[in-house]
Amino acid sequence: MTKINDLIKNMSLEEKAALCTGATAWTTTPIEHLGIPELTVSDGPHGVRRVADVNTLIATSLPATCFPTASCMASTWDVDLIHVMGNAIAEECIALKVDIVLGPGTNMKRTPLGGRNFEYFSEDPYLAGQLAASFINGVQSKGVGTSLKHYATNNQEYQRLTINAVMDERTLREIYLPAFETAVKKGKPWTVMCAYNKLNGAYGSENHKLLVDILKEEWGFEGFVVSDWGAVHDRVASLIGGLDLEMPGPREQRVKAVIEAVRSGVLDESVLDESVRRILGIVFKAAETSKDGSFDIAAHHALARRIASEGIVLLKNNGILPLKEQKHIAVIGRAAKKAYFQGGGSSHINPTRVDIPLDELQKLAGDAELIYSEGYREDENLDQSLIDEAINKARHADVALLYICLPESKESEGYDRNDLDLTLQQVALIKAVTTVQPKTIVILNNGSPVVMSEWIGGTAAVLEAWMMGQAGGGAIADVLYGVVNPSGKLAETYPLKLVDTPAYINYPGENGEVRYGEGIFIGYRYYDAKEVLTQFPFGYGMSYTTFIFKNPKVSAATFKDVDGLMVSVDVTNTGMVAGKEVVQVYVHDHKSRLVRPPKELKGFAKVELQPGETKTVTLRLDFRAFAYYHPAYKQWITEDGEFDILIGASSTDIRWAQTVTLQSTQDLPSILKRESTLRDWMEDPRGKRVLDPLFQKINAQMQTMFGGGEGEAAGMDPMGFLMDMPLSDLFQFLGSALTTSPEDMVNGLLAKVYGTDL
Ligand code: BGC
Repeated sequence: MTKINDLIKNMSLEEKAALCTGATAWTTTPIEHLGIPELTVSDGPHGVRRVADVNTLIATSLPATCFPTASCMASTWDVDLIHVMGNAIAEECIALKVDIVLGPGTNMKRTPLGGRNFEYFSEDPYLAGQLAASFINGVQSKGVGTSLKHYATNNQEYQRLTINAVMDERTLREIYLPAFETAVKKGKPWTVMCAYNKLNGAYGSENHKLLVDILKEEWGFEGFVVSDWGAVHDRVASLIGGLDLEMPGPREQRVKAVIEAVRSGVLDESVLDESVRRILGIVFKAAETSKDGSFDIAAHHALARRIASEGIVLLKNNGILPLKEQKHIAVIGRAAKKAYFQGGGSSHINPTRVDIPLDELQKLAGDAELIYSEGYREDENLDQSLIDEAINKARHADVALLYICLPESKESEGYDRNDLDLTLQQVALIKAVTTVQPKTIVILNNGSPVVMSEWIGGTAAVLEAWMMGQAGGGAIADVLYGVVNPSGKLAETYPLKLVDTPAYINYPGENGEVRYGEGIFIGYRYYDAKEVLTQFPFGYGMSYTTFIFKNPKVSAATFKDVDGLMVSVDVTNTGMVAGKEVVQVYVHDHKSRLVRPPKELKGFAKVELQPGETKTVTLRLDFRAFAYYHPAYKQWITEDGEFDILIGASSTDIRWAQTVTLQSTQDLPSILKRESTLRDWMEDPRGKRVLDPLFQKINAQMQTMFGGGEGEAAGMDPMGFLMDMPLSDLFQFLGSALTTSPEDMVNGLLAKVYGTDL
């Protein structure tokens, strides 16, 4: 720290300004005479996209392992595995001379149409936060940095550079920030990348509330904030807003603007110094890890295969899987020959090698005959002859495997999807093949949900294999043949149709603005609350074995919010093969002053069990598991009362529910004001004390006025009517009994509550 402070003293204004803007597309400005080295960054997130010439933004990058993308990673629900993947990515960074990998991305999947959803983890902030933290820790434990992105509310690609995401404070705090918050607090990323878009009117690159008040001050983030590439509009405003490093460079004009702003007094030099201090801290930390050597290509390929096989979700199985003795297997679909394993855009990796699904299948199929047909064209044009050929091959086979991938152009950074459909040809193909061959297994490659109701009924099994990374072809074969027992669980809901999705009528926005009208109800929070049927719920996934949950326990029936609660359950593998189950713990609040989703995920653990084996899974639920963000108190609050602890194998497969009682230890300040209603006053402990004597009088008066409490006079329940009325309006009813004006009476009461005259 002293070293950095001394350096800052010795740096000229020009040098400081230059350090805060990139020197090239991927490096920062070195200052040789002061011994300040450059820092090299590269995309991310599911592999290293190291462009050899740092002056080019887009160019074929050096070979690196393309791991499964985030939707597949998330479906593993395995924080340890993600940590190991982080380790491997760090090793590749070291070999490729990269100091910081630009990932993970942990934005919420607000709508399944999001073009970049394949790069993000989940619709649930708790799950996404845990996975992001684990990824960060995995990378950083090897001395390589990460860049947590895109902070925050970059939840669509449509007009992503400018769209103004409009949402209320509670939605921001409960849905769109917690994954970042967990990742920052638990993972301590070296850098955070700001979002392109605006949030409530302010660009991500200039958003003081997001970058300084919340990220740096509230959450204690110690690294630096880097702009998304090209996200800066006004360099001086962005420095004031908390954006430390602008990328990409070089940007001569920006450097000049900063220098002039300091000279003219528009920008306080201490603001610039603070950004310099943050950047230097990371520059020197990165320099501690020397970047050289090579990485184990085969071992990382094998790891990519393992992660893919753990992330593949078995959506449907009528017992046909795993494959056994089938001798004639129709393999239909071009994705069997040309693996679809990653999405378009900045995350596009130049893989070290790619598994061909068909070849990998043959290795496990032994002497079984694989009969291939293309099934559909690369473009979206209909070709009946391919369907006819597929039907012929499928009809005479023992089983048909349909490898279906979305056309590559459908899922990419930079634009969203228009629909959730497979192509017309693919739907027609599945329907035709399943008609002649009931033993048909559909294997899907896509980055986020597709709708299936039109065709799933005819299938024998469906595997969601995601954008599975370069070794995914082998992983599919592993799952089909039961070399790996599937254990992936959906980290996002699969809707029956697009119109059912939570953001449907509030997306993509217009006139430059998208209103998050569904508020805190995204993903399963919405489907639960509205009782909307889904194709597959959040947390869902099948196995080749069966598990039972027994002996659920909570550490206390009544507990204090600050103590939290331990929850445990015994899980037994009751089937014939080894397997893994994900225990999911959701919390349901019986009653709260502000509306809450029916349940929220607050803990999970993946456990591996041999046939007949039992293990006890224990999870801790902390204060935040029970709290919600109250915008009037401007903080997370708990309320006394009952909660259900729900232990399940998916968000709709709840096996145990246990009711517990929480005692809040919070002494919340009063938030009563002139407009507060009778209910507000009675719910506020200080308000209740002050108002109670008067309340008795009002109540008596009302009963008389409205006819003995029966509501005869006005045909209404007086209290139901009065409880949500502001006190001053209520006092009007007291008429001549009033000694002062209703407003003065309220002011008098407020003065008592706050111990002062207003
Ligand atoms: C993307 C970032 C990426 C950066 C550098 C941007 O367009 O949004 O995720 O890290 O480019 O390629």
